[in-house]
Amino acid sequence: MTTESFTSGVVPGGWPVLGHVWPLMSRPIAFLTSLPRYGDLVEMRLGTTHVYVPCHPELLRRTLTDDRLFDKGGKYYDRAREMAGNGVATCAHKDHRRQRRLLQPAFQRAQLARYAAVMEQEIADLTESWSSPQDIDAYPELYRLALRTVTRTLFSAQVDDATVDRIRCSFDVVFSGFFRQMFLPRAVLRLPLPGNLRHRRALRHLRETMRQVIADSRADNDENNVLAGLLAAHDAEGAQVSDAELYDQTVTVLAAGSETVASTLTWALYLLSENADAQAQLQAEADAALAKPVATWDDRTNLPYAQRVVNETIRLYPAGWLFTRVTTSDTELAGRTLKAGTTVVITPVPVHRNAGIFEHADRFAPDRWLPERMAGLPQSAFAGFGGGARKCIGDDYGIGECTLALASIAKQWDVRTLPGADVRPVPLAAFYRPRRLPLRLTRRERT
Ligand code: HEM
Repeated sequence: MTTESFTSGVVPGGWPVLGHVWPLMSRPIAFLTSLPRYGDLVEMRLGTTHVYVPCHPELLRRTLTDDRLFDKGGKYYDRAREMAGNGVATCAHKDHRRQRRLLQPAFQRAQLARYAAVMEQEIADLTESWSSPQDIDAYPELYRLALRTVTRTLFSAQVDDATVDRIRCSFDVVFSGFFRQMFLPRAVLRLPLPGNLRHRRALRHLRETMRQVIADSRADNDENNVLAGLLAAHDAEGAQVSDAELYDQTVTVLAAGSETVASTLTWALYLLSENADAQAQLQAEADAALAKPVATWDDRTNLPYAQRVVNETIRLYPAGWLFTRVTTSDTELAGRTLKAGTTVVITPVPVHRNAGIFEHADRFAPDRWLPERMAGLPQSAFAGFGGGARKCIGDDYGIGECTLALASIAKQWDVRTLPGADVRPVPLAAFYRPRRLPLRLTRRERT
């Protein structure tokens, strides 16, 4: 498709002060799925700011890959940095290459295989804590698994439960109100309102806990963790390790590697519980592939269906559903001139849910990710991990952890959703997850 053939349009119906914030936050999937009907590039308002959303995979690819022109900056990132620091996920292009180079070694394949021992242990601890039948509230249960795993691979396998709990309590407050902090006027955030005070207190506690964990972990000399990789890379560059940067990078990895994995696992169990055939197929694969109740890192090659389930879950419910970029100079996109400083909203939803790209786009169909069926898909048809230089550094880590957890659960348990589920998303939260998903787990009967 050539540039001239892209269309652009304006989303109708914005409210006077809020613009389109309300439908975006209250029913994000339905709202974002509706956008392509207004054009390949659509204009809408977040508060009083006019923003543009690429809805065509080629436009999404361009905005993701030209990270110099479409940079992380502007008022939304200023706010995000107040919460998550100036780490690799929030920094601007000028700082990014150096930061990414420092973190990259900690995410190489050989390292991931070492972290897998922690993943396997955490999955075993969780699944062994269940009796049959076991009713769980899915997200908190899976969040504990993901946060414990990422904390212990980031710092040290020795981090104790009380520390993980302290981090969890702070994150609950800071990241549950993420978009509230981003979109509310600063004057409102300065008021001594209960929500603002809670947020400030949680940030203060988080900083104190992290300072202590970093200090303990530096003294620990364990080499198989992300922090050790970061310190070694710093040393190799002859650079001084600033405590502020260590804080920024470690908070970033903790935040980016916990809620994303927990949300994906929660949605996957929901989809499997609603699709009996898919659950049976996953169980059959796990029975054939796993020698023990819990999957190992090496089992992944024999779990292709589990990996397709993970992919399909992220297509339908991408945990990282909303990011922004800001143009660093005037540019043209889909025939529109975007002035320097224009905000572009990056979301995979309009593409992931586009029936012109994915047949029966709203249907859970893991086998659409069979290699022979993926061949015809455009680039950036799947953007659940972003793209270009800012693509998720933890994609293999996240897919690996989700695959191991799902296969291990499928090997031992039947999963079904209980009455009382509310799968509307938590409003204003940084990552896309359901409000409440009660599940009943029943130990499978073997013949
Ligand atoms: C299923 C799980 C995951 C999903 C869906 C996911 C999604 C994403 C997305 C969409 C981005 C791009 C954001 C942007 O373009 O602004 C991203 C970036 C990032 N993710 Fe993930 N992620 C997952 C797991 C993880 C894990 C497990 C880690 C670390 C342990 C991690 C660490 C990061 C970091 C550090 C970045 C910033 C990369 C950069 O800007 O260079 N993610 N993730």
